Amino acid sequence: MTLKTNIGNDSFDSCMMNASGVWCSTVDELEALVKSKAATFVTKTATLAPREGNPLPRVHHFGPNSINSSGLPNEGIDYYLAALANFEATHPNRAFFLSVTELAEDQIETIMQRVHQSDYHGLVELNLSCPNVIGKPQVGYDFETTARILDRTFSYFDQPLGVKLPPYFDVSHFDQMAEILNRYPLTYVNSINSIGNGLVIEQDAVTIAPKQGYGGLGGAMIKQTALANVRAFYTRLKSDIAIIGTGGVTSGRDVFEHLLCGASMVQVGTALLQEGPAIFARLEEELKAIMDEYGYTSIDDFKGKLKNTI
Ligand code: FUM
Repeated sequence: MTLKTNIGNDSFDSCMMNASGVWCSTVDELEALVKSKAATFVTKTATLAPREGNPLPRVHHFGPNSINSSGLPNEGIDYYLAALANFEATHPNRAFFLSVTELAEDQIETIMQRVHQSDYHGLVELNLSCPNVIGKPQVGYDFETTARILDRTFSYFDQPLGVKLPPYFDVSHFDQMAEILNRYPLTYVNSINSIGNGLVIEQDAVTIAPKQGYGGLGGAMIKQTALANVRAFYTRLKSDIAIIGTGGVTSGRDVFEHLLCGASMVQVGTALLQEGPAIFARLEEELKAIMDEYGYTSIDDFKGKLKNTI
């Protein structure tokens, strides 16, 4: 039995990895993922300069769920490019993902140019969906701006590029965003980022400090929204745009459902934060047991094959 999968021209021995923002801010954290059963890693979303992020406390867990308003704390693009150079040198047969964004359109162009001109030629994820930067809307909800950024980026950017999207909740938004994404030679689309601007209350108070307690929701409670977005884009996008499914994964069954909806790779966020990188061994074992039950020997046997009848 194999869990091998591909994203664009890159092959991976497994179909599970971290979600950006979780266990990926420092070289030590990335190293722990490399040593785990994860297929690969994606870095914390990098900006041009290092950022401290929002005031603490900014992450709170409730059961298998979380709320966060981290505000893109990161070490800056040069740190992650240097880290990737080292990981690529020490693991020449493995592909990794670099996540990037910036807070304004012209700065997005600057960081994409910076990556383009660097020695890193691997997979890049443009994060269009962080809900936690104070005063900045999520780009992925602004269809015109998204198209303008992709037009500009693809005028020079020639390495494998994916976009991380926010969740959409209306069929017309699935349609409109898919129509835009289908114009570009994207390698993949990653659905979903956290469900932005939720509010979690304990006793009589908010649970995180920034933004009067508003933050992105993650964990088990967002799985159904994630699955709907994965399915919506899998059924609307050109077949050469792979889907990465993110959201609500706590078990092998959740991974199986993302794959069934059409994901080629599944990312783990809140549950990884709660359980640590050892989670990938558990998820792998649980997924293999389900595949065994159905008689599947590879993920291609069932990827995207969700039945529409009951
Ligand atoms: O606040 C944060 O750093 C989260 C980023 C994201 O959700 O993309």
